[in-house]
Amino acid sequence: MAMQTQSDRLKALPPYLFAEIDRKKKAAIAAGRPVIHLGIGDPDTPTPDFIIRAAQAAVADPATHQYALDRGDARFRQAIAAWHRKRFGYTLDPETEILPAQGSKETLSHLPLALMNPGDVGLVPDPGYPVYASSIQFAGGTVVRFPITAARGYLPDLRAFRTSDLKKAKLIYLNYPNNPTAAVAPRAFYEEVVAWAREHQVLVAQDMAYSEVYFGEPPVSILEVAGAKDVALEFYSCTKTFNMTGWRVGWVAGNAGAIASLVAIKSNMDNGVFTAMQRTGAAALEGYDRPEIKALREMYRRRRDCLVSALTAVGLEVNRPEATFYVWITCPAGVDSRTFADRLLTEADIVATPGIGYGPHGEGYIRMALTVPEAKLEEAAARIKRLKL
Ligand SMILES: Cc1ncc(COP(=O)(O)O)c(C=O)c1O
Repeated sequence: MAMQTQSDRLKALPPYLFAEIDRKKKAAIAAGRPVIHLGIGDPDTPTPDFIIRAAQAAVADPATHQYALDRGDARFRQAIAAWHRKRFGYTLDPETEILPAQGSKETLSHLPLALMNPGDVGLVPDPGYPVYASSIQFAGGTVVRFPITAARGYLPDLRAFRTSDLKKAKLIYLNYPNNPTAAVAPRAFYEEVVAWAREHQVLVAQDMAYSEVYFGEPPVSILEVAGAKDVALEFYSCTKTFNMTGWRVGWVAGNAGAIASLVAIKSNMDNGVFTAMQRTGAAALEGYDRPEIKALREMYRRRRDCLVSALTAVGLEVNRPEATFYVWITCPAGVDSRTFADRLLTEADIVATPGIGYGPHGEGYIRMALTVPEAKLEEAAARIKRLKL
């Protein structure tokens, strides 16, 4: 019998929908073609200098070199609490309602292990960030997808869940500002969610990875709603706010019981976030009002305006995102998202992400990321114009 190198839980993951596009992308790059990367949402400009300097000082201090404590560095937790107070106006207890983490993906994916028993239901948005579903599966839970569609501003209809699913549901993932649709959620929606979660005793995991990438009104936090801490956790990250994708620093805020369970899971999985990185996170949050951070938002705003007007001019139907650095584009009539993304790559050397990769309701759309300079966005639109769509 052959040695087992893959568990059933890994085998049960859905096929990787981007594999074919990935292969073609690599082939195009290897052939020296002028590929424009609008696929992955990874900022192209460096982390601001003041953050790099804070990290250098923190790494040089031997006090940061040992294992981090379970609940994380006190100064980071206090900086997080102060930032939430200033940004949203509410108070968090740094001892019990805040947990430093390695970005947001790590805790989003550990959460089902902390909360769910095998057979419990986890509700995930469709389209949505694929990590929600895979981590429910890893925990032995049952994934129930709910549609978010343009007709409802990409907000779910909370009355549409089946009673049988609600009875078993322990967890719902939400994500606003939303990847991939770029939708934002108003306060009234969160009020509805908190009342619904209380009625059905479902924990709300609201993914705020894009909380600070906005162009209009700053996005609302679910924790602003009275009583939200009884039913909700919110997942934050330095990743997109401060151009720190590789650094792996973020935090969770909200329900103290769920945070205690996450601490217990994490203490069996890792030994905390490098203390120097937590100090760096604190320095980043303390510098939140600096012009460099505002300049990042302005850069994405210019890119958004550039790509949206260029794509509209070539006849594509495009949303105009109020937040995130994604543009959600309707495929030309009769063309599915994989075919459209494939044509963009093979005929125009443009990498974009087919909406089907985020769930069946992502079909009919592709996503482009604003993570290249304006000149390249214009070039991409010019190449699309030359295609006969
Ligand atoms: C919706 C969403 N949530 C979470 C993440 C994870 O980001 P990080 O772990 O770097 O905070 C991403 C990254 O692209 C994302 O798009």
